[in-house]
Amino acid sequence: MIKALKGMKDIAPEQSPVWQRLEGIACGILSAYGYEQIRLPIMETTALFERSIGEYTDIVEKEMYTFTDRNGSSVTLRPEGTAGCVRAGLEHDWFATQGRRLWYLGPMFRHERPQEGRLRQFHQIGVEAFSMPGPDIDAELILLTARLWQALGLHNLRLEINTLGTAQARAQYRSELVTYFSRRAAELDEDSQRRLEKNPLRILDSKNPAMQDLIAEAPTFEHYLDDESQRHFDQLQHLLRKNDIDYLLNPRLVRGLDYYNRTIFEWVTEDLGAQGTVCGGGRYDGLVQYFGGKAVPAIGFAMGLERLVSLIEKQDSALGRAPPPHIYFISQGDDALGDALVLAEHLRDAIPGLRLTTHCGGGSFKSQFKKADKSGALLAVIIGADEMAGKSASIKFMRGEQEQKTVPQAELKQAILEAINRGADERIDQYETTS
Ligand code: HAM
Repeated sequence: MIKALKGMKDIAPEQSPVWQRLEGIACGILSAYGYEQIRLPIMETTALFERSIGEYTDIVEKEMYTFTDRNGSSVTLRPEGTAGCVRAGLEHDWFATQGRRLWYLGPMFRHERPQEGRLRQFHQIGVEAFSMPGPDIDAELILLTARLWQALGLHNLRLEINTLGTAQARAQYRSELVTYFSRRAAELDEDSQRRLEKNPLRILDSKNPAMQDLIAEAPTFEHYLDDESQRHFDQLQHLLRKNDIDYLLNPRLVRGLDYYNRTIFEWVTEDLGAQGTVCGGGRYDGLVQYFGGKAVPAIGFAMGLERLVSLIEKQDSALGRAPPPHIYFISQGDDALGDALVLAEHLRDAIPGLRLTTHCGGGSFKSQFKKADKSGALLAVIIGADEMAGKSASIKFMRGEQEQKTVPQAELKQAILEAINRGADERIDQYETTS
C-alpha cells in the first residue's frame, strides 16, 4: 500500500471542524483589523529563499525541498511565507500603498526530523505589514494575536520579546561573539563550530545542554544596542503594558531566520512539550530594499496551525468540539422528501448560520430518529403523510422535556427560532461553540 510521505499528514474529516473554526476565527479577526488576504505560489526560485532566510540558517542549509524542474531551473517548495510576500509585493507594486496589511494561509515545507509538533508539511497563517516604521504596528500585531488566543479559548501562552537593533549594531555584536566563542572553541559542539564564522548569533539559540554555561556567560547585546532601536523597544513595551499584555524580556531570543532586525517575538506554551512555539515573528526593515525595492520597513509573524490545533485539543477548548446540528430534518415518502428539501433550503436562507442536517439515504422513521439522536441535534423536524396533508411540520425536542408540536409550514421559521432561543432578527454566529 502506498502511504503518505513521512512528516506529511492527512487532516481527517473528524479534525476539519476545529481547523475550519480556527481558520474562520483568525480570518474574522484579521479582516476586522484591516488585513487583506493574499494567495501566493507554493513554489519559488531557490535563490529567493537562500538570499532572504540566510545561507547559513538551518532552513537553507538542510531543510529545503529543492529540486531542478524540467527546464533545469532550481526551484524550492516554500519553507515560509515572508520571502514570497516580499517578492510578490515588489513584482506587483503592492508597497506603493502606505500602511499595507497583508495575510496568508497555507502549507509550508521543511525537511526536518519529524516529531510531535514538527512536520515536513505544516500550515501557517502569516501576517506581513509594510511601510510602518514605528512600534505602533509591532504592538498591533501582538494585540491581534492576543485577541486570537482569547477567541480560541487558549491560555498558558507566554509572550517573549527581544530587540536585535540595527544591522550595524548587530555586526558589532557579531564580531564580539566570534571573539568570545573562538576563545572557548573547544567547548563548542559540531553545529556551533560550523556556525562560528558564518552565523555566531545562532549559537545563542542552541538547545544543547552541554553548551548552556558557555552561552550564559557570552556577552549580551545590550551594550551594542543603538539609541533609536532602544527607544523603539521601550515604546513597544510601554504600549504592551498600557494594553495589559504580559511579556517576558528574553535577551537570548534570536529566531531562526536572518532577515530580522529590531523587534522580534514568540508566543510559547509549555503544554506542547518540546515544540512549544506556536507563533513567531519580528521586523525585517531591510528585506524589501535588499531585493531591489525602496526602503520599506516591515514586520510580520506566522503561526503554526498544527500546533494551535494540538493546543486547542490539549486545553480542551470548546472550539475542539464540533457543535451538533440545531436541526435534523426527517421525512417519509417521496413527496415528503421533496417538500423537506425545499423547506430545509428555505430555513437555511432565512436563518443564516443555522446548522441543519437533512436525513439522506431513506429508512423508517425509527431509524431516522436514531440518526437524529446520534447527531446530537437539538430538534428533529418531521414531515410525514399527516404533515403533507396539513401543510405543516412537526418539531420534536430531542433534548429536555418539551412536548412535540405541529406548526403550519409558513410558521416553521418562527417556531424554530423560538425553540433555539433566538430573537427573530438574530443571526447565528457561524463559529459559536455552544448550542
Ligand atoms: P518560523 O518561526 O520559522 O517563522 O515559523 C513560524 C511558526 O510556524 C512556528 O512558530 C511554528 O509554530 C510553525 N512551524 C515552523 N516549523 C514547523 C514545523 N516543521 N512543523 C510544524 N510547525 C512549524 C517564519 O516562518 C517567519 N516567516 C515568520 C514571519 C513572518 N516573520 C516575519 N513575518
